[in-house]
Formats: sequence, C-alpha cells, structure tokens
Amino acid sequence: MSKKRVLSGIQPSGRLHVGNFVGALRNWVRLQDKYECYYFIADWHALTSQYADTSQLKEYVKDVLINCLAAGLDPEKCTIFAQSRVLEHSELHVLLSMITPLGWLERIPSYKEKQAEVKNKDLNTYGFLGYPLLQSADILIYKANHVPVGVDQMPHLEITREICRRFNNFYGEVFPEPEGLLTEFPKVVGTDGRKMSKTYENCIYLSDSPKEVEHKIRTMTTDPQRIKRTDKGDPELSPVFQLHKVFSSKEEQDEAAEGCRTAGIGCIDCKKVLIKNLFTVLEPIWEQREKLLKKPDVLEDIIASGSEKAGKTASVTMKEVRKAIGVDGFSQ
Ligand code: TRP
Repeated sequence: MSKKRVLSGIQPSGRLHVGNFVGALRNWVRLQDKYECYYFIADWHALTSQYADTSQLKEYVKDVLINCLAAGLDPEKCTIFAQSRVLEHSELHVLLSMITPLGWLERIPSYKEKQAEVKNKDLNTYGFLGYPLLQSADILIYKANHVPVGVDQMPHLEITREICRRFNNFYGEVFPEPEGLLTEFPKVVGTDGRKMSKTYENCIYLSDSPKEVEHKIRTMTTDPQRIKRTDKGDPELSPVFQLHKVFSSKEEQDEAAEGCRTAGIGCIDCKKVLIKNLFTVLEPIWEQREKLLKKPDVLEDIIASGSEKAGKTASVTMKEVRKAIGVDGFSQ
C-alpha cells in the first residue's frame, strides 16, 4: 500500500527559534519515516506581510533550510522545497481565487486579528487577504492527506477543505479532502514568559551560539516575588520552570519545583539544569549547522532537486485541474 501524503510549510519570516523546533520541526522529522512527506519554505507567504523590506528574505530562507536539515530532515526521505520555485502554486491560487467568496476569507480570525495587532505595516492588501487561499493551493496541489500544523492554523485548514469541496462540486472530483494533523506540543515561552515569538524579541534562536543561549537563560526572569535566595518561590510563576516542563525530565522538574517552593535551591541552580538540557537538544543541531554553513552548494542542490521533484507532482495535478476547468487547450 502506498504511503499517505503529508504536506507542511514554514514561513521564513525570521530566523527559526526553539519554539519552531518544538512546535514543528521535531514533529516533521518524526513523520518522514511513516509518510510520503513534502515540506516547504513558504517564502510567498512571508511576502504577504513583509513585502516592503525584502532585504533579509533570502537569508531567512537559507536559515530555515539549514535548520530543517540540522534538525534531521533527510532529503533522501522527504521532499524539501521552496514555494517560489514551484510556480504551479501560483496558477492554482489564481484558479481557486475565482471560486472563493470574499466572505470566507474575511471571516478568518487571523485576518482581522493580525491586521489589528500589526501596527507598523499596512496589511490592507490583496495578498494578505488571500493568505489562507495561497495555503489552500499549497495543500491541494499535492493532494495531501494530512497537514501537520498547530492549532492556530486550523481555520486555514478548514477553508482549504471548503474550497476543496467547492472545487470538486463545480468541476468533478479532483482533490481529496485534506485533514489537519494537530500537533500537540507544550507551550514554549520566551525569556520574558510570553509565548516565544520574534515580535516579542524573547527568542532563543537555533542559530544562537552556546554562549548566547547560556546568557539568555541566565538573565531570564523567574518568579518576580522571589527576590532573595532565601525567599520561597512559586515555580508556576517562573518562565524558567515553564521551559523545564518542555526540556527537562520529570525528576528534574520535580526537583526544580520543590527547590523553588522551599528555597532549597537558587534560581541560578535551577537555570543550570535547564541550560544543560537545552544544550543536549541544541548540540546536534549546532554541529550540523556548522557543517552545512560551510557547504552553500550542497544547500542549493538540495533545494533545487527538492523543488524539481515537487514541481513534477504539482504539474501532474495542474494538468488535471486545467482539464477539469477547461483551460487545457484545444487538442484534447
Ligand atoms: N501558514 C503556515 C504557518 O504560518 C505556513 C504554511 C503555508 C503552511 N502554507 C502551508 C502550513 C501549507 C501547512 C500547509 O505556519
């Protein structure tokens, strides 16, 4: 029996951080053995909000690729590509736009939320409104069965399914309905206790050096009421403890919590354990990053051959799509 197909994408809107690793990459690596996986760098999606200054886009795309490989994605097992190198995505996007009621796009929560939240950019654009539809094209063009995403992406998956049904209704069964593969992962907080996000400048980046990681953890806030070493603390109020929940063993978590509550250990002691565990996760990634950074040609080869492979699959689907709609020329 042939393997089910998985597709997922990641936006190169900045350098990748530990939250991206826990929330996406780590899971992608696990899936590559079980499914036929297509993973891509959604550079057009990054442009929907970062269109005014594209000076760092290429560097971010490269950083995402390096991190994907360093985290363990194997180009022998999965197809890794760049969205902008498979032009068929844009053709499907335009064709899907013909059948997409505006209201479907306008009601997606992330649309209004992000417009309200982001003050330094004008997101009142055609491209930004069409963000979820471009995502639908990404998914449908590979006839993906499963789409591993976090819960924030579920509305985008829902509209993809609606578009899929509408298309099949109008033009015949071309696309299978994709399903979300909800990735359950612990919340990764940043150095200030809020969700790790580049907008908050609280990230531990996969490209940070060991020194930088150590410094970021050492200067992290803890329970704000625990001021002196002898003060008893509440681990639940400490972002450091939140990270222990993600990166430390159960015993270490219990020790950290108990030590905090009883003032048995100081915050630095607690942080040292976290640093050790973070290093265990990051060391193999750092090692691979070092190697890959020295081989720009290999990176280009990987993304070029992945994009070519993806393009083949996408063009098979597009032939079917053009035929179903009737924009496939006279000869057939
Ligand atoms: N919107 C996704 C995110 O920000 C990235 C993405 C683009 C994607 N196209 C996709 C994810 C297709 C899954 C499938 O995380």
